[in-house]
Amino acid sequence: MSQLFAVKPVDRLLAEAREAGEGALTRALGPMNLVALGIGAVIGAGIFVITGSAAAQFAGPAIVISFLLAGLGCAFAGLCYAELASMIPVAGSAYTYGYATLGEIFAWIIGWDLVLEYAFSAATVASGWGATMVSLLQDFGINLPPQFIETPGSLLVHYHGRWEPISTLAPALQAAGVNIDSLPHATGLFNLPACLAVIAVTAILVVGIRQSANFNVAVVFIKVGAVIVFIIIAAAYLWKNPQVAATNWTPFIPPNKGHYGEFGWSGISRGAAVIFFAYIGFDAVSTAAQEAKNPQRDMPIGILGSLAVCTVLYILVAALLTGIVHYPQLNVAAPVAVGIDVAGVRWGSLLVKGGSLAGLSTVMLVTLMGQSRIFYTMSKDGLLPRWASTVHPRFRTPWISTIVVGVAVAVFAGLIPISALGQLVSIGTLFAFIIVCAAVLILRSRRPDLPRAFRTPYSPMTPVLGIVISLYLMLSLPLDTWMRLGAWLLIGVFIYFGYSRRHSRIGKERETRASA
Ligand code: ALA
Repeated sequence: MSQLFAVKPVDRLLAEAREAGEGALTRALGPMNLVALGIGAVIGAGIFVITGSAAAQFAGPAIVISFLLAGLGCAFAGLCYAELASMIPVAGSAYTYGYATLGEIFAWIIGWDLVLEYAFSAATVASGWGATMVSLLQDFGINLPPQFIETPGSLLVHYHGRWEPISTLAPALQAAGVNIDSLPHATGLFNLPACLAVIAVTAILVVGIRQSANFNVAVVFIKVGAVIVFIIIAAAYLWKNPQVAATNWTPFIPPNKGHYGEFGWSGISRGAAVIFFAYIGFDAVSTAAQEAKNPQRDMPIGILGSLAVCTVLYILVAALLTGIVHYPQLNVAAPVAVGIDVAGVRWGSLLVKGGSLAGLSTVMLVTLMGQSRIFYTMSKDGLLPRWASTVHPRFRTPWISTIVVGVAVAVFAGLIPISALGQLVSIGTLFAFIIVCAAVLILRSRRPDLPRAFRTPYSPMTPVLGIVISLYLMLSLPLDTWMRLGAWLLIGVFIYFGYSRRHSRIGKERETRASA
């Protein structure tokens, strides 16, 4: 029984992190790489797609306040991550912090929960990448066989020279009075673009952390460039046409429509919970702790620097987008492109699609990287099979774990319609945030002596506020998301008792000591 609550001493974690040699990862990342990794994981489907639908359905222009609220929660959690990642620079992130404070069973549950944040978000983002790529190719008149652009069973129709899923096209067809049955139909078999994207990213990750980081930096420049171009175009337009913004921003908080979450203050909360997805990823920097050259100094820079850049960009995009387009018109697949169209820039939609493709590529790269590093750490602790921590002798990457995660995510993205899983990714991440904030409080009281290169300011207030806001955002998510989270964690508990508990390194050492 006591094994369930056995903690892994911080001194031992630190000793393991210092290990070098054949089985160790290579320290190749400096502060700029780490900030770029954070931005790489963060800017993606959230800002390019979800901002529009969240403004249209829940908050109106007050989506800006939703971004502020979610950003504040992330800032509190980010400060806690920064303290722990600089203090315990081990690749396991929240899993490791849980092992050091709450005990093995909780660590396992958090590790299992992180699969939602990393592998599931990679799969969700891969399907967005596939859809954007197909749409971009169709802009150039290239049509892939429709059976291979969607998951099995999805229905597609051919309209205006393009194959589109019925689900996205139906409202427009209805509005135009077009009978869907009169259009050519096809049924999806496999989402090949989504699957291939994951395979390509996996290949880069296997070859090396330096190569992955360089690819990430290059692509991050493209996507941040696309966001900045939008900001400049929209700001210039509104500067010349201030009455457009005045009309679109009035009322700034549309009145509630009678149900929780439909505009008004409850709409701002629901909007914050939904767009929280856009912030997910800055914590992935902590999974690169064993590959950072100077983790004590650079982990806080990577985590907080990337979060700060993304928060500023997000708030600007949200404010300008709702200023340039009236919010009910933003419930579309590419709302930022609609904004650029209004400004009269013809190449805008191409720019936004290019920016989203770049954005989604690096989100996949960093989340898949994070997942393999978390499995690496769990395997070192004996909670997952040994192969998951095998490091390639030449590439110095956890290659088997990277390939297994990559293939599983690629097949998943190819076969299962996952766009609806975004909220599951959010709730899983918020749960991890709560654990991380709690871990700061616990370690401050249990081990005040440990050197902390970065200290969360205003503790205990900051971690407590991190917990309160994360919990509040979790509670703003629908009940079925909670049920899915519960089911997922229950599967994890079965695996723990079926495998991990019997193979745990700490558990085995305890047995040896007891029988000696
Ligand atoms: N934050 C990431 C995105 O928005 C997951 O795509």
